[in-house]
Amino acid sequence: MANAAFTSFSRQQKAILEEELIKFVKNLQAPAVLKNAMAYSLSAGGKRIRPLLLLAVLKCFGKEPGIGIPAAVAIEMIHTYSLIHDDLPSMDDDDLRRGKPTNHKIFGEANAILAGDALLTYSFQIIAQINDLRVSPEMKLEIIAELAKASGAEGMVGGQVADLEGEDKQLTLSELEYVHEHKTGKLLSASVLSGAILSGACERQKSRLNEFSYHLGLAFQIRDDILDIEGTEELIGKPVGSDTGNNKSTYPSLLTLEGAKLKLMEHIQGAHQQLDQLEINTGLLKEITDLIAVRDH
Ligand code: IPE
Ligand code: IPE
Ligand code: MG
Ligand code: MG
Ligand code: MG
Repeated sequence: MANAAFTSFSRQQKAILEEELIKFVKNLQAPAVLKNAMAYSLSAGGKRIRPLLLLAVLKCFGKEPGIGIPAAVAIEMIHTYSLIHDDLPSMDDDDLRRGKPTNHKIFGEANAILAGDALLTYSFQIIAQINDLRVSPEMKLEIIAELAKASGAEGMVGGQVADLEGEDKQLTLSELEYVHEHKTGKLLSASVLSGAILSGACERQKSRLNEFSYHLGLAFQIRDDILDIEGTEELIGKPVGSDTGNNKSTYPSLLTLEGAKLKLMEHIQGAHQQLDQLEINTGLLKEITDLIAVRDH
């Protein structure tokens, strides 16, 4: 059982996360349709890899994962907003997400855009309002700054724009790496970093974890590109062939499927090399890394 520790960690933490996600939305004083649209996409399932990374880092530093729950919830809200917008007709125009009709298919485009906006802004409110003596005001500020940077123009949004600009043309490998690192990698890195901030990690440890998550983020999106070809709709819970249909530049389209798989393994190895140089117990992070290499959803 190579992934035994992560499997039990993830089962336990996911149950807590999922309950908290819904609780946070219930607490809002807002129109019912908006709360329903937010809760719909949040509770549709999903691997919860970003919050689990944050919580796993805390565990690796010997901290209690509970410290990280509000920040983990906030990050999953940012991610879910990005998926709702990514699926809109003006973006990837997809009808299925997390095994259910996409948000705009149920609530209409305007409400889907607004549910995304509300999830994004709520995430920062949640972090600012963390009420836990173990989380200092400095930690909250640092997490807010890192998450804002990772999600915005210098991060995910910038990557999404470059991804759309790359449709119908062949990007170079370095242009494609920019897209993947930004649209996907930056939020994954910020999740790891948020865990490190909450753990009181030193600058050297943070920078090592940052290198680790750079490789992890690229590996994660390369695997996503591969699953767009090799996956099954039933398992990935979203349409297969979306990238091909939208004429996207992807790792398989640039490097062939085999080339993309080799690149994926290079980044998995790169991630391990960084973890090997940390003196904390990185067992859980190693298990997550290996799972990302072979994930089928
Ligand atoms: C999908 O993210 C979009 C990418 C950045 C590749 P996930 O693969 O983490 O989607 P969920 O959260 O499990 O649905
Ligand atoms: C999505 O990339 C990245 C973000 C949502 C920020 P994709 O467009 O490849 O994600 P999927 O395949 O629709 O989940
Ligand atoms: Mg997209
Ligand atoms: Mg998409
Ligand atoms: Mg994809």
